[in-house]
Order: sequence, then structure tokens, then C-alpha cells
Amino acid sequence: MNVIDTEQKELNYDDIQGIVLQERPTPYVGTYVLLSIDHLQDGKAMLQRLLDEVTSAGEWSKPHEGAWVNVGFTFRGLQKLGVPQDSLNSFDKEFREGMAARAAKLGDVNESSPEHWEDPLGTDKVDVALALFASTEEALHQAEEAAHRIHSDLRGISVIYRLEVGMNPDGRTHLGFMDGISNPRIQGNHIPNAVGQEDEIKAGEFLFGYVNESGTVTKGPEPVELGHNGCYLSLRKLHMRVAAFRRYLREHADHRDDEELLAAKMVGRWPSGAPLSLAPETDDPALGEDIHRRNAFTYADDPKGFKCPVSSHIRRAFPRDSLQDFVVNVNIHRLLRRSTMYGPVLPEGVMEDDGQDRGIIFAGICSSLSRQFEFIKTDWLNGGNFAGISTEKDPITGKNEGEGIFTIPDKPIRHRVKELPSFSITKGGEYFFIPSMTAIRWMVELD
Ligand code: HEM
Repeated sequence: MNVIDTEQKELNYDDIQGIVLQERPTPYVGTYVLLSIDHLQDGKAMLQRLLDEVTSAGEWSKPHEGAWVNVGFTFRGLQKLGVPQDSLNSFDKEFREGMAARAAKLGDVNESSPEHWEDPLGTDKVDVALALFASTEEALHQAEEAAHRIHSDLRGISVIYRLEVGMNPDGRTHLGFMDGISNPRIQGNHIPNAVGQEDEIKAGEFLFGYVNESGTVTKGPEPVELGHNGCYLSLRKLHMRVAAFRRYLREHADHRDDEELLAAKMVGRWPSGAPLSLAPETDDPALGEDIHRRNAFTYADDPKGFKCPVSSHIRRAFPRDSLQDFVVNVNIHRLLRRSTMYGPVLPEGVMEDDGQDRGIIFAGICSSLSRQFEFIKTDWLNGGNFAGISTEKDPITGKNEGEGIFTIPDKPIRHRVKELPSFSITKGGEYFFIPSMTAIRWMVELD
């Protein structure tokens, strides 16, 4: 397999893992399982079994035993599996260093810094992640059995962490907003129900070995059997301070009736998912449900952000056509998001923290951690000088720490809220390599 068609009309669904090309089911339940490899031979045995249990994109619509099993490896995991040094050296620097080493750059400081992360996240114990998803608890049980078959009798493989995730009853994030609406459409991905209603993005933005938006072929790790059809995953456990968010809205909205508006201005969408750009005055649930309309907008008619503030979460995370004055090609900074919720919902109206851990497992897939995930996190969300605004950060995920400012352009005068706390705290995270099926086979066959 040395000659590769980098402009394939259709992607090789049987070789690419399902989580890359298609959304998790809706509704969904899931489990993340982290493994540590203590013995090479058992690591090899695990790889061999993964070949039977991992769900490729080709199987995704006809789930393997009713559920989906996907796998990723940290750099240390690949080392422990005996991947040769030349190949290890060919991975990007950010991946080799790991997320914890990148913490300062990512804004994971103070209470979000790795010394406060939940064990074993960010330590040298995490080698493998299994992501199990299903549409019912019963089907998830099948996936858990598959995961069990992969490692349970291998003494050199230990389960070091498990986290259950699931859709909140209202289908929204803990802050009360619909998520997972906007995702790029990948060129060559024609799977039924493939994600994304937008213009196509070249496959090389998300997969190694394909032409990317800059017109070059995205180089992955070597050899080609290891890299082609693989990608990176940034996985982060983000605790959400829901009560603090509600209190902030209560204290800073002009009236009770305006609390939802203030929150929507911060997100850029209404709770239903309807974008402010198309529904600037009130929520429009029918628009929020309409998969053909809810993501069909630009910011061309709203350069100053009167409808959707320039500093809102979605405008910072993907500025669409907002940055033309800054000559930025936004398509080289995209992510495939596969995030899921964890923890119990804080009942409506509760304004005090109940001490429970709840939040989002952010999962961003890309072919360049630095140009995509890290760039969005540092330059756009936590941004030094995003769109010429140097004093603000993303109000939802930014490192605001009680000093944040958020401007809502309005006429005759703008509205500005201050002393924003950080509503999202990093509890840990890792960078993973999501190999193709060919790459797993290649690793099995290594001497
Ligand atoms: C506490 C953590 C977070 C919450 C609650 C959150 C919530 C949301 C919500 C409600 C949306 C709107 C739905 C949609 O457009 O799909 C959204 C969009 C988005 N978020 Fe986040 N998010 C979080 C963290 C992040 C992080 C860490 C990143 C990237 C590093 C990110 C990147 C994006 C992107 C790229 C979009 C789509 C924007 C667009 O295409 O218009 N988010 N997020």
C-alpha cells in the first residue's frame, strides 16, 4: 500500500475508525475506558483483539453488536507497543509532548493546571483510550463486553479510569444550550448521516495522507501504513460551573427576562440551537431543530456583532467570514467535535453549587493539533488579539478568572459585562492518535 490516492472520491470507510466520519448516535450513552500497558506481549494481544472489536466507519451504520468501539493511543502507549523510534519521531511535537506539557499554552493554569487534574489524566499511566458509544444502555452493555474481551484476561493491561457519559434529558449541555450542531463536512465522506451541512472541507484537514485546505498533502506519522487514514484526538474533561453561570446571569442581566438573552449572546446561539445571526431577538425552536437552516449563516451582514457578538463562543470558535479583514483562512483551523456530557444535571432554578462533578468531555478530531485544536483554544477562544479585541476571552470556556469582560454591541450604546469568572475548569486531558485499521494491523505485525 505505498501508492495512495490523495484526492479519493470516496474515503476508505472500512479503514477509518467510525468516530472520525460519523456522529455518535442520538440519543447516546457511552463510556470512556483508559488502559495502561504494563507488558509488551499483552499489549500485542490487545492490538490483535482490537482488530475484531473496533468499529470502522464502514460498520458504523450497522453497529457491531449494537454498539460502537473506538480506540486511541497516547505517545507513551505507542512507545510501549514497540513502535520503532523512527516512526515515533515522525509524530507531531505536540502529540509527543502530550497535553499536560502544553498546559500553560492552552491556558490550563491555576485551578485548571495539571497538578490539580484528576488522576490518572495527564500522567504517564495513560496509554490507551477506548470510547464506547451506543443508543441504549442495553447496546452499551454489548460494547462494554467487547471492551472486556479486548483486555480482561491480559494481566499486563490494567483499567485505570472509567467515565460514563450520556445525553442530558433535554439533549443540551449543562448550561442549557444545544451543542454539536456545527461540524465540518469532510470531502469524500458520503456515508449516510455523515455529519455536517456546510461546504466541504478537504479530507487532509482531518485525516493524514490527503490533500488539505492549503493544497498540500497532510503528512502523518511514518510509514504510510501507520499514518494513512489516521488522525489526532484532543480529549478534555471540562467541569462546568453551572450554578456560577446562573448566578452571573441573574446578577448581570438587566431583568429576569433578559437572563436567557445574555446567555445566548455569550454562546452565539439560543438554548434551542437557533443562531442569533438568524434569530437575533428571540429563540426560535423550529429553527433550532431545522438541520438545513440552523447552520446556514455567515457574519457578513453583522460585522460589528449587533446580532451575534464578535466575542461569543461560536464566533470565536469558528469566525466563518468574520476575519476577512485579517486575511485568515478559517478553514485551516477547523475541528470535528464529538463531545459528550457527563455528570447529573443541576435541576432548573438551583442557584447554589451542589458539589457534583458535571461537564463536558470535549473531543476534537484534527490532523494538526497545533494548527487546529491548540490554535482555536489559544488564539481564538483565550485569544490574545482575536478580531482586534485584545481585552476579552471566550465568555464560556475562556480563562476569565473573575476578570473577564464581554461586550454586547447595541444601539445607541454597547453593553459591557465585567468580572466574568471561569465557567469551565479543566480536570484533565490527553492527546491521542486514532489509527486506521491498517495501522493497528501494522502494529500487530511489528517484530
Ligand atoms: C465548557 C466547554 C464548552 C461548552 C459548554 C461548549 C458549548 C458549545 C455550544 C453550545 C456550541 C453551539 C453549538 C454548535 O454550534 O455546534 C458550541 C460550538 C462550538 N464549540 Fe464549544 N463548547 C465548549 C468548549 C469548546 C472548546 C474547548 C472548543 C475548542 C477548542 C470548542 C469549539 C467549538 C466550535 C468549533 C463550535 C462550532 C462553532 C461554529 O461552527 O459555528 N468548544 N460549543
